[in-house]
Amino acid sequence: MTTDRSELADIDLLEDTWEQGVPDEQFRRLRAEAPVYWHPHPTAGGFWAVTRYDDVKAVSRDWRTYSTELGSTFIRDFDEAAMELVRMTLLNMDPPKHTRYRKLVSAGFTPRMIRGLFDGIEVAAREIVDRVADADGEVDFVDAVAVPLPLQIICDMIGVPAEDRAKVFDWSNRLVGGQDPDFSPSEEDQMVAQTEIYAYCDAIAADRRAHPRDDIMSTLVHAEVDGDRLGDTELNLFFVLLCVAGNETTRNLISHAMTALIEHPDARRELAANIDDDALWNTATEEFLRWNGSIHNFRRTATQPTRIRDTEIAQGDKVVIYYHSANRDESVFDAPDAFDIHRSPNDHVSFGGGGTHFCLGANLARLEIRTMLRELLRRFPNAEYAGEPRRFRSDFVNGIKSLPVHLSA
Ligand code: HEM
Repeated sequence: MTTDRSELADIDLLEDTWEQGVPDEQFRRLRAEAPVYWHPHPTAGGFWAVTRYDDVKAVSRDWRTYSTELGSTFIRDFDEAAMELVRMTLLNMDPPKHTRYRKLVSAGFTPRMIRGLFDGIEVAAREIVDRVADADGEVDFVDAVAVPLPLQIICDMIGVPAEDRAKVFDWSNRLVGGQDPDFSPSEEDQMVAQTEIYAYCDAIAADRRAHPRDDIMSTLVHAEVDGDRLGDTELNLFFVLLCVAGNETTRNLISHAMTALIEHPDARRELAANIDDDALWNTATEEFLRWNGSIHNFRRTATQPTRIRDTEIAQGDKVVIYYHSANRDESVFDAPDAFDIHRSPNDHVSFGGGGTHFCLGANLARLEIRTMLRELLRRFPNAEYAGEPRRFRSDFVNGIKSLPVHLSA
């Protein structure tokens, strides 16, 4: 059964749309008129677009009905051989397998571990701001401010030395940039990036087997699941997941937060005037996350016939949950289209709807976003666009490729 209504025939939530901007108006119509909407896809059949907050949460929390392991979290399809590899990444495992693997990396992300990173993150953020000062405040914000902090922190946590960070950055861009010609001109190039990052991971893993250190790679090479050590492919895929998840998402969130601060000067001035007010910075950080999350959607696949509201979903159907739409759901958030740094409660779903895959790096990301922007506004309370932001072409990552800004004291 589909809800393909002629008045909604111009709905398009694919990559070309996102390159132009966040389709707020389309989401508003979908939430009101067809909250479970059959969205055609030129190459991947079609999928149910789920756009209301309660439904996004319900799907996220019900892994028995909505699997990631059956068909991955991407809208496009993979052949069975590729699916075997895809299923070795945490996001694409269902419990009980997921539970066993998640335990392995969780140790690196406990609240205590994250608190331990606090000073290092602050020092790194100050150094980044110093470099902005050297450039007289005229920078591409993405390269100068949003990229370096998450890159440095995740590389340090995994165990990638400073001199190799640029390589990790390049691989990570090429791996998620398949739909954007600026990053990844061809599938072959993506394959090359994949081969290179796997070889690199193999080398680090070999080193940590012989010389364990205090990093996630050392934990992973010595960890056991059901009495077995992780294989090379499993290690490679963990490595890639952490590099991509740790970099792309937080970087884009910091860039989107900057655009929000440029476009809402009152909020920016208030934050700058209350730079040491932790409570205000905490609510502001949650609002940055709600306002423009880094991931448009994740896909699930129905394991059995089911129903969302009055729409029947067949076994095997793709169900795609749209986080941004849920975050603007007028039945949950007061004045959802107002950017409000005092918003409370603010139970957004930018880190997921609270199910088994809930973002492992949520507290790390919060700390990085808050610290980076706070250190920036401490020195540069004024900001304006120095050119047009350029958006990433992707049906999955809500990215900004470049953001020319002028920052001033
Ligand atoms: C603003 C930054 C971030 C956003 C918006 C974000 C968002 C998300 C979302 C939406 C999910 C899926 C949740 C679900 O399916 O219920 C997820 C999963 C995940 N995130 Fe993040 N994330 C961010 C930062 C990070 C960072 C810094 C890391 C650190 C390495 C990270 C690691 C992961 C991992 C490993 C998963 C998979 C968890 C699992 O399958 O069990 N994320 N993230």
